[in-house]
Amino acid sequence: MTTSNQTRVNVSKGKKFLITAGLPYSNGRLHVGHIAGAYLPADIFSRYLRLSGADVRAICGSDDYGVAIMVTADKEGKTPAEIAEYYNQSHKNALAGLNIDFDIYSATSRNPYHKPTTQEFFLTLSNKGYLKKGSTNQFYDPMKEMFLPDRYVKGRCQYCNSLDQNGDQCEHCGNLLDTNTLLDPVSTVSNSPALVKSTAHWFFDLSIFEQNIRSWLDTALIRPNTKSYVEGLFSTGLVTRAMTRDINWGIPVPLEDPDAQNKVIYVWFDAPIGYISNTKELCSIQDSNPDTYTDWWKSSNCEIYHFIGEDNTIFHSIIWIAMLSAEGSFNLPNGVIVNSFLNIKFPTHDVEKISKSRGSAIWIDEFLLLGYGPDALRYYLTAISPEQTRSIYKPDDLITRYHSELGNALGNLVSRTLSMTQKYIGSYVPDIGDSYANEQDLIFSQLTKKIHQEVTELIESFCFRQAQDRIFEFVRECNKYLDNKAPWKTAKSDISITQVTLFYCLSAIKNIAVLLLPFLPTTAEKILAQFQIDSKTVCWKDALTDLSPLSYVGEPIILFPRIEEKVEPLGPNK
Ligand code: 2FM
Ligand code: ZN
Repeated sequence: MTTSNQTRVNVSKGKKFLITAGLPYSNGRLHVGHIAGAYLPADIFSRYLRLSGADVRAICGSDDYGVAIMVTADKEGKTPAEIAEYYNQSHKNALAGLNIDFDIYSATSRNPYHKPTTQEFFLTLSNKGYLKKGSTNQFYDPMKEMFLPDRYVKGRCQYCNSLDQNGDQCEHCGNLLDTNTLLDPVSTVSNSPALVKSTAHWFFDLSIFEQNIRSWLDTALIRPNTKSYVEGLFSTGLVTRAMTRDINWGIPVPLEDPDAQNKVIYVWFDAPIGYISNTKELCSIQDSNPDTYTDWWKSSNCEIYHFIGEDNTIFHSIIWIAMLSAEGSFNLPNGVIVNSFLNIKFPTHDVEKISKSRGSAIWIDEFLLLGYGPDALRYYLTAISPEQTRSIYKPDDLITRYHSELGNALGNLVSRTLSMTQKYIGSYVPDIGDSYANEQDLIFSQLTKKIHQEVTELIESFCFRQAQDRIFEFVRECNKYLDNKAPWKTAKSDISITQVTLFYCLSAIKNIAVLLLPFLPTTAEKILAQFQIDSKTVCWKDALTDLSPLSYVGEPIILFPRIEEKVEPLGPNK
């Protein structure tokens, strides 16, 4: 095992970065696990890069094809296209509600570039001899005359005899099931017995690319736990996987072979290509030319980072790397940033997995109705971010931390500093000259630089949780400084000391707001507005400077209003 990986991104002005977040299936609403897993970290990182002057495109969209969408469509009596469109819009609303800003949020079934890009990719691999035809046994519904995806078959597990098990895995004993081991199979489409029939598919042999994947793994920015997991997969050997499917919802296999008719490309083949086709669509909008996508995918000046949840690791760190290596004309990603799952614990319940069917999920649209605001959730999800291991979302903990860390620590710091400024100085930053600052003031004013450097390093190493913690440590330091200097007391004895204290505190608050822009954009913008600073004109280094004496200071504001107890945390089945 090598340890040569770089651990930090090298950010510079004008450098290009393409940031992607895993394309969610468009068959359900987004919940807190999705946001913590991929979308919030991708947004924090993109916002940081933009503030640092980098040229950034943040890409996402829904993953519309595959069996999951067909199953939902069946249940809801709709077509897969209708389901995909409905949930694509629902995702857009949820992301907008949390200020998670992608430059494009497209949809694989509606992006006009997706089908041609995927088919061309498939043909390139086929022409290079990397997609080989073979046959395999599959369940078949003779009544409906269709091959059945695993999730459309139920039967008895050969290992433990449990009834009503799905065609892929036994929920009771955990064994993987297939056409040999799922007994008495029944099609859930027609409720009639399923047959086993041979069918042709096109297979991709991942083992051919083992060396490419290993070399990529040695240089890519990837967390150590992800790297060890992927290396572990080599020990069991890379397998050959079918890249086509016998369903009718997907991108048609672009081969003349009669056996390819009525088959579609496997959803995990087309989904990551969605990153490319969504970039093309964005370029067609921004540059009126889809071909400029090459600036992002084929240029040596651009770095690509994929943000994903843990269940997507194998697809991005093995299959996607093998696909790109086989195709040969696109750059490989510079990093794959994986977050673990978020579990959930409702008061009086045990810790459980987030699950739609059990009702143990916090949905973003419902959270946003509670009135805590987007930054409450952004703050909490980063504070508990499952960057190294799984972590636990506790609705009551979010409320406690909203009041204590956001309201009492940050909110009070801002409101009392602004109040005292209004009371003892006026609507402007005091002009303190040099003379009155004592050692304590100077030590405090130096803290800004240290924090700025630490937060920068942490963000560039994808340690967003620690970076946010560090900023809040600074908030606590500011409160301590204010308490120790007690400007309300010195105002009675020597107003110049009060002026010095408030000058450094106001500057620190402005700097905290700049540092918070990637994490809590709404809050940071509100704070900056009190100094008449437009957040769009701010850059990351602006967190290093003092305010200009005599510049404007606004009225005190309430950043995090107390939420009355009567607002219940969302519980299971709500
Ligand atoms: O797990 C999922 O929701 C998948 N739809 C993620 C796809 S990521 C990428 F490949 F598009
Ligand atoms: Zn079993």
